[in-house]
Amino acid sequence: MTARRATVVVFLLAAATLAATVRLPAQTAPVWTVPEIGALPRDAHGMQVREGRDLITATYAHIGPNVADASKRYAGNNLACTNCHLQAGTRKFGLPLFGLYGDFPQYSSRSGNEITIEDRLNACMTRSMNGRALPDDSPEMRAMVAYIEFLSTGVPAGQKLPGMGAGNMPELDRAADPVRGRAIYLRACVSCHNTDGSGIRNSGPHTALGYMMPPLWGPDSFNDGAGMARLTTIANFVHFNMPHGADYLNPQLSVEDAWDVAAYVVSQPRPRKAGTDKDFPDLLQKPLDTPFGPYADGFSAQQHKYGPFAPIRAEIERLKKERAAKR
Ligand code: HEC
Ligand code: HEC
Repeated sequence: MTARRATVVVFLLAAATLAATVRLPAQTAPVWTVPEIGALPRDAHGMQVREGRDLITATYAHIGPNVADASKRYAGNNLACTNCHLQAGTRKFGLPLFGLYGDFPQYSSRSGNEITIEDRLNACMTRSMNGRALPDDSPEMRAMVAYIEFLSTGVPAGQKLPGMGAGNMPELDRAADPVRGRAIYLRACVSCHNTDGSGIRNSGPHTALGYMMPPLWGPDSFNDGAGMARLTTIANFVHFNMPHGADYLNPQLSVEDAWDVAAYVVSQPRPRKAGTDKDFPDLLQKPLDTPFGPYADGFSAQQHKYGPFAPIRAEIERLKKERAAKR
């Protein structure tokens, strides 16, 4: 061994000893560590978690409107939760279901009271899935909740994880423009979501009930009471996730194009949810872009649907201050 090599070896040994004795400080930043479902034992709990994931990735096959057992037809459309909660709810800014179990029960401005994780899931059942609520004690609800709880393994309750939701890009100072959006749709979306927004059905014999490319509007889509029917939600979702393959690190549409194409999608017909006028009993807590009234302010339904939102936001702030002063 040459003297130089020997020095290197001694150095490496010293470094190894150092690493073994000097402990690196524990990582304190929240980490996006999705637990591995395949590593779960195949006991009752492990099987329930797997079943929950199946319900989320192939919802249409288990509780969709066309399943053989009529008593299991809870969803009103053939979407899967994973069409919006991307990669079975594990993708950053793809509306993750990761790490949120400990946040429930929580106050919901939509219902004006405290809701459980089951209530929240049923809000997607009756709106995004345009169907009916699953009973809290049904095996399907238990399995999906077990999966969502499993996804939060090791995430302390109340921890704010970056990557939740669908992102938060800058707003436009004009109304989003569905006419301009149509041209973007024809360029960037039509090949998958189809000219009439109806998507492309699965063709495989075991998956035939669902979609290869999900619909964005029309009778088999989410209804107008769904979160995805709000411009801000869909615009951010599209900016950070669409066309399929884009992600938050590599958005493909400009901010402006994302707002306009989202405006085109929300301008199209979709199922109507009954009773949405009762949503958000405190109108000052109603999201600015809720596409249905009543509203606390004097702005038109059109402006609530397409923006610009800054003037509405300022007026709501003023009304909140006015109310606080009266109390
Ligand atoms: C059409 C898109 C879509 C589909 C399909 C969908 N969801 Fe959602 N879901 C959303 C959106 C958007 C939100 C956030 C709601 C908001 O911004 O008001 C959400 C929120 C949630 C939340 C709360 C998340 C949080 O951050 O607190 C849960 C839990 C949930 N969905 C479960 C499900 C389950 C389970 C299914 C399938 C049975 C499903 N969703 C289907 C769009 C969808
Ligand atoms: C290459 C195919 C492809 C292209 C192009 C594409 N999408 Fe998608 N889109 C998908 C797939 C597939 C999903 C379901 C998500 C999944 O399974 O990962 C989806 C999901 C969605 C959803 C949520 C689910 C639903 O049914 O509403 C929206 C909204 C959406 N896309 C909008 C758009 C818009 C707007 C464009 C154009 C800017 C676009 N997509 C371009 C394939 C595509």
